[in-house]
Amino acid sequence: MIYNKIASIKEQIATIKAESLKDVEDLRIKFLGKKGLVTELFNDFREVPNEMKREVGALVNDLKNQVQEFINAEKERLGNVKVAANKPDLTLQSEPIEIGSRHPISLIKNELYSIFQAIGYKVVEGPEIEDDWHVFSSLNFPPEHPARDMQDTFFIEKNPDILLRTHTSSVQVRAMETSKPPIRVICPGRVFRNEAISARAHCIFHQVEGLYIDKNVSFADLKQTLLYLARELFGADTKIRLRPSFFPFTEPSAEVDVSCKLCGGKGCGVCKYTGWLEVLGCGMVDPNVLRYNNIDPEVYSGFAFGVGVERLAMLKYQVKDLRLYFENDVRFLEQFHGVI
Ligand code: DAH
Repeated sequence: MIYNKIASIKEQIATIKAESLKDVEDLRIKFLGKKGLVTELFNDFREVPNEMKREVGALVNDLKNQVQEFINAEKERLGNVKVAANKPDLTLQSEPIEIGSRHPISLIKNELYSIFQAIGYKVVEGPEIEDDWHVFSSLNFPPEHPARDMQDTFFIEKNPDILLRTHTSSVQVRAMETSKPPIRVICPGRVFRNEAISARAHCIFHQVEGLYIDKNVSFADLKQTLLYLARELFGADTKIRLRPSFFPFTEPSAEVDVSCKLCGGKGCGVCKYTGWLEVLGCGMVDPNVLRYNNIDPEVYSGFAFGVGVERLAMLKYQVKDLRLYFENDVRFLEQFHGVI
């Protein structure tokens, strides 16, 4: 009797195939559950005559292991099928990934960083919300200077001492406060002026300021540094021209033009038929500025320059409407795709 039952269970597990994990669980209950067919065999086993117990016991135990293995194998087979069904199809065509592009202002700034880092300048930054001392007073602006006027400067309401910086020269002051000569820094950043927004003027733009202070720094060093900058930016045959100018914080001061790259100096629409393009302001740091910042002008001298990043971008990329740099229109930005 028990032999027949064993044979029948063996036959079943040899032919049954579960369709789902639920089927497997049903089979487990059918064979190995409390009232399962294999469990029942152990009850039947009590009736088996003693002299046969050894042989039948071994058969029943074997069968139990066999059934258990069958259940495990079915479980694994169906479990794996399920995982396989969830796997992505790696042969499918992928969605194209849109790669961003650098903003033209970032491109120019990065170029300036590497040009100046190559000759030992460090990049330093300062706050956009500043006080009068760092933006004006320590830079030798007299109290009645028109740049302090509400027309040009955004003062923070209720406190006329706190304002949005109108130039990054304030960062030069901070560099002088926190380090001792020799100082060799460039200071990039956003600046703010109370201007009506148009294609040629904006209330926000970017500057990169440079400052070099050491013993025996002369105007010749300034000129040579600017020539190096112009040639790195616009090409090896670029010429520069300095015109006398005025800034409260430099003496003497100059405005710097570079030869127009487009017409090679012959004159064209871009340089307004002069052959020259104005790019930056510069000068020897005024002894008063050094004194205000506890640097002895009898021992040290220095030069400074400030360049408008949008201005350089306009020259380099021929984008003449300043507003485009701030609108972040993707149709504009994607034109710089791939430019590093
Ligand atoms: N701060 C000036 C401006 O915003 C630019 C400038 C001119 C900076 C001469 C300098 C400099 O450091 O020496 O127009």
